[in-house]
Amino acid sequence: MKDRSNFTGKVGFVLAAAGSAVGLGNLWRFPYLAAQYGGGTFLICYIILSVTFGFTLMTAEIALGRKTRLSAIGAFKSLDKRFGFLGVLAAIVPIIILPYYSVIGGWVIKYFSTSLTGHTADAAKDTYFNTFVGGLTEPIFWFLLFVILTAVVVIFGVEKGIENVSKFLMPVLVVLTLGICVYVLTQKGAMDGLKYYLLPHMSDFSIKTLLAAMGQLFYSMSLAMGIMITYGSYMKKETNLGTSVKQIEFFDTGFAFFAGLMIVPSVFIFSEGNLEQLKAGPSLMFVTLPKVFNSMPIGDIIGAVFFLLVFFAALTSSISLMETIVSILMDKFKWGRKMTCIIVFVYVILMGIPSSLGFGVWDFIKPLGMSILDAWDFLSNSVLMPIVALITCIFVGFFIKPKTIIDEACAEGAKFKSKGLFTVMIKWIAPIFLVAILLSSVMNAFGIITL
Ligand code: PFF
Repeated sequence: MKDRSNFTGKVGFVLAAAGSAVGLGNLWRFPYLAAQYGGGTFLICYIILSVTFGFTLMTAEIALGRKTRLSAIGAFKSLDKRFGFLGVLAAIVPIIILPYYSVIGGWVIKYFSTSLTGHTADAAKDTYFNTFVGGLTEPIFWFLLFVILTAVVVIFGVEKGIENVSKFLMPVLVVLTLGICVYVLTQKGAMDGLKYYLLPHMSDFSIKTLLAAMGQLFYSMSLAMGIMITYGSYMKKETNLGTSVKQIEFFDTGFAFFAGLMIVPSVFIFSEGNLEQLKAGPSLMFVTLPKVFNSMPIGDIIGAVFFLLVFFAALTSSISLMETIVSILMDKFKWGRKMTCIIVFVYVILMGIPSSLGFGVWDFIKPLGMSILDAWDFLSNSVLMPIVALITCIFVGFFIKPKTIIDEACAEGAKFKSKGLFTVMIKWIAPIFLVAILLSSVMNAFGIITL
């Protein structure tokens, strides 16, 4: 790309990357995984992985982008011809994620409309979510609306406008989330939930917890899918890479932490002793939060505002997912922008509908024992992303060497204090860990071992 623009200002890069990172991963996915995998146990695994693995991979990806000024496919290829395939593999991840991400995006709009029309009390009922997703046309309608909104933004190239709006809305979402946390934590019964969320119990720990935390880390920080390479390619040389990585991680993890703090204790408050709800999985946010809003004085309004903000967080992420796919296809096949957008739009609809139906009329289809949506999620987060991460580590550790990345991080005299950690992580710890985790997850999914 000839005129590769730069992010202006020091925080410009961090804000843009954090904008991609913060999305449904933080608000929807993190809390349900934390609830499911032992609360504090999951949290501590996640935080440890974030400052070691997350730091290493994000530094490597951003540096690769900034050094080559290319996005994933070109970046790997330009440094070593044999690794062009890695960029292609990374590009497949957003292609898998976008359709099911849009299904969840549709659920968010549905819940926004429910609150807006004053039906929070209905949404607070236990059966509401299952009845909704089990329906034939309704979930598909909201899914289509979400895809159309995403596509319209990408086709007409108005991402900038949406980004500007969301830059203003995201701080509001932070404040609202914190406010809901305070409300939840002052309710009767919240303390048990708080303890569950914060205190680790060794008995809850298993390889599955690590696997889930690792997949979540990739997903939430938009790693192992080429996104951070693209962002890095727009980053200025003067911007301190190590510091930026720390800031993005801090922001992303902080957001996830508070989302969990809002949702996990709520399960304890409203489950009436039935803690099976902790294992609700993808539905957790939608089942729990309406109960919280319903118990508040102006719950309909708070619920509507909350889901509207979540919608914007989801929309900015889905836009960046779609934009990534469109630009990869345009580069590869030299198609025009409009036509590429339309092809991606049709693809997302065709692939998303089965994920939606998997909770309803197609709920008998259970690939690897999971719902269709969960199976896509598993394939991208627990299989493909660890593979991409593993090969990236090998590529950096043994082919271009960690020094290449460290030199890039030290460009323009910048300090990069974690050289030792970075080198050991990328050459040894990360690859060994990734192989172990990948093998165990795949063997577990195929029933060869039971985790
Ligand atoms: N990191 C986003 C989230 O946590 O919701 C998901 C995502 C958004 C991944 C955009 C990739 C991307 F390009």
